[in-house]
Amino acid sequence: MFDVRKVRERFPALRAKHEGAPLIYLDNASTTQKPDVVIERIASFYRSGCGNVHRGVHALTGETTRLYEHARETVARFIGASDPSEIVFTRNATDAIHIAAFSWAWERIGEGDEIVVSEMEHSSNLVPWQLLAREKNAALRFLRVGADGRLRGAALKRILTPRTKLAALIHVSNSTGAVNPVEELAAAARARGVPILVDGAQSVPHIPVDVRKIDCDFFVFSGHKMLGPTGVGVLHARKNILDSMRPFFGGGGTVREMGRAGSSFNEAPWKLEAGTPSVADALGLEAAIGFLEMIGMDEIREHERILVETALDALAEVPRIALYGPETSKNRAGVISFNIEGIRPADLGRFLDERGIAVRAGDHCTQLLFRSMGIAATARASFYLYNTTDEIACFASALREAAALPRSAWKDVEGA
Ligand code: ALA
Repeated sequence: MFDVRKVRERFPALRAKHEGAPLIYLDNASTTQKPDVVIERIASFYRSGCGNVHRGVHALTGETTRLYEHARETVARFIGASDPSEIVFTRNATDAIHIAAFSWAWERIGEGDEIVVSEMEHSSNLVPWQLLAREKNAALRFLRVGADGRLRGAALKRILTPRTKLAALIHVSNSTGAVNPVEELAAAARARGVPILVDGAQSVPHIPVDVRKIDCDFFVFSGHKMLGPTGVGVLHARKNILDSMRPFFGGGGTVREMGRAGSSFNEAPWKLEAGTPSVADALGLEAAIGFLEMIGMDEIREHERILVETALDALAEVPRIALYGPETSKNRAGVISFNIEGIRPADLGRFLDERGIAVRAGDHCTQLLFRSMGIAATARASFYLYNTTDEIACFASALREAAALPRSAWKDVEGA
C-alpha cells in the first residue's frame, strides 16, 4: 500500500488548518482537492506560452495541439478506450450526457419511445433525459434499486421493451456508494439490442474502469472529481456512434466545409468540441491521471475499502445513527450516507464544519432515490486516497459528541 502521509504532502489545500488542526475533507464525491502536479501543469501551460488548438501554423499552436491530443491519448488509455478518437472533451459529465442526449438520442427517439434510467440517478443523468422525453413525447421508465441497494441486470432486462431506445445508468451511486454491476447491466441491454450509457462520475476516480470490458456504448465522467480541474469532462463513445452524431454546438473546430446555408462537419471527436476547448484543464486532467496511475487504481480502491470498513465499524457505535447503502465495502465505494435521529442533516453538517470536518448534507441531487428509501436527506461522508483512518476516528468522535448533546440543543439551532 502507498504511504498516505506522503500523498497528503502533495495537496496544498490539505495543509489548511482549522483552529490548529488540519482540515478533514470528506466531501470528495462532490469535488476533490488538487495535487501540486495538477496545479503546476495548468500554471506551466500558461507560463510557457500557449496557442490555440488545430488552428494556424505557428509553433505555439502546433505545440498546444500536440499537448492537447496527447491528453486525449492519456484519457483513452486510462479508461481502456479502443482509440483516442473515441474521447470527446466536454466541460463535465453533465455536459457529456447532454451531448449524448441532444446529438445522438435526439435523432433516434420519437413519440412513444422509452428511455430507461434508474431511481438511483443524480440530476445529471436524469434531467437531460426528462428534457429530451418531453420534447419528443417519449417516456422515461425507472429501474428500481434491488434489496441489496444495487441495480440488477435481470431487473433491467424485465423493463426493456421493443420501444426502449436507450438505457442510461449510474455506475457508482454518489449518495450510497453502491457499486452497480455495470458489465451485467450492459450485457442485459445488449441482449435486447438497447444501447447503454454509463455515468462514471463516481467510478472513474475511485475504481479501475475499463470501458471495453464494460462493453457500453457511452461512458461519461468529470475531471474535478478525480483530482483534476473543474471545467473538463469526458464523453466516451464507440467510434461508429460518434461518427453518426451531428454536432451539439456548432462553431470553430466542427466544420469541414462552410457554406451559406449550412456546413459539412469535421470528423469525431473534433466535430463535437466546438470553439476553443479548455486546453489547460485537459492538461490538468492528464496530470491528475498521471498522479492516480502513479499510486495505482487498485491500491486506491483498496485504501478506500479499508476506510469504508473502518468508518462503518466506528459509525455503528454512534447512538441513534442510521447508515444507508450496501452493508459492506465489497459493493460500496468510499461513500457513507447517514442520519442521526433528532438531528437535521444540515445542522449536523454545520456542527462538523465547526470542528473542521467537511461533509455534504442534503439530497445530493438524488431525490428520487431518497424518496424510494423513505428519507428526505442525509449527511454524507465521501473518501479519497488522501483520507486516513485517524481522520475517520475524529469524524466518528465528533458524531458521538453530536449524538450526546440533548435533543433540545438541536431544536434551538438557526432555522429550527
Ligand atoms: N454529484 C455531486 C455530489 O454528489 C455534486 O456531491
